[in-house]
Amino acid sequence: MKFSIAAASVFALTFLSAAVKADSYTDIIAEFCDGLEVTTPLDTDVLVSGSNATVTVTRVANDHEKTITGLDLYSVDSEGTPKYIKNTWAGQYNLQTSASISDQIPQDTAAGLYYYRVWVTNMIDGQHGPDCIKTSRTFKVATDSHTNEAGFTSYAQSLDDVSYYKPEFAKGCFGLTVKSPAEGETQKQNSHVAIVLQRDSASQTDALTKVEVYRALEGPDKMVDTIWVGKEALANAFTIKDQLRIPSDNFEPDAVYYYKIDVTSQVKGETCSFQSGAFKITA
Ligand SMILES: *[C@@H]1O[C@H](CO)[C@@H](O)[C@H](O)[C@H]1NC(C)=O
Repeated sequence: MKFSIAAASVFALTFLSAAVKADSYTDIIAEFCDGLEVTTPLDTDVLVSGSNATVTVTRVANDHEKTITGLDLYSVDSEGTPKYIKNTWAGQYNLQTSASISDQIPQDTAAGLYYYRVWVTNMIDGQHGPDCIKTSRTFKVATDSHTNEAGFTSYAQSLDDVSYYKPEFAKGCFGLTVKSPAEGETQKQNSHVAIVLQRDSASQTDALTKVEVYRALEGPDKMVDTIWVGKEALANAFTIKDQLRIPSDNFEPDAVYYYKIDVTSQVKGETCSFQSGAFKITA
């Protein structure tokens, strides 16, 4: 299989201190942003609209001075698209090794999965240095709750209702779509196919680890070819080029095929799979 990756990422580097000896944007971000973590809210938290969340940020100790400067609340919509709700807090909160901010979930927040994107600013000689953005786990927001005399709390939404709270999204598997090949396309065996990934900048997906082709005919879908295995950080626009060569024993003109993309999640230990649209292959 021929394989190549063309990654395009757009970034603006607004600050570069002469004191910073780093080769690239990635190194700078690693230097200033590694070791930062948003440890609450937890993925098991259920918050009622209008109540307060506790946002905790931890860091490893080093000589960089850090300040929490903003909290942005995001939702994951039913399609898995991250949606910016609002900036719920802006200020200056010094971050030693751990800092917690109590922040209100707006009263009019609809039920669903939400997460915080936390802005942490590095201060260098009293000046605004590189910013880091770290996300919390997704947590559940319900519109109301009721606690009975026995101390049991029930919520306006069933916490198992996947139309509000999709377990896949809670693993950080959202904000990535395979734009191409699209559903219903026809490709030719041996032709060059561009697998186009579009990643939202607020996605919690992290690195591409595997690309496979699956065949759907009758029975369970069958993996018919492994295109690539490795580890490659995902840019927000990402294209994988494949030459379609389905082994002859798995080549079936009546079947449909799709690419399965495995990626890691920023949520530790989780992995995600996404699929392209199902397409036909002609000889
Ligand atoms: C709830 O959060 C708001 C900020 O969004 C804050 O002003 C208020 O003090 C918090 N309430 C409590 C009880 O911590």
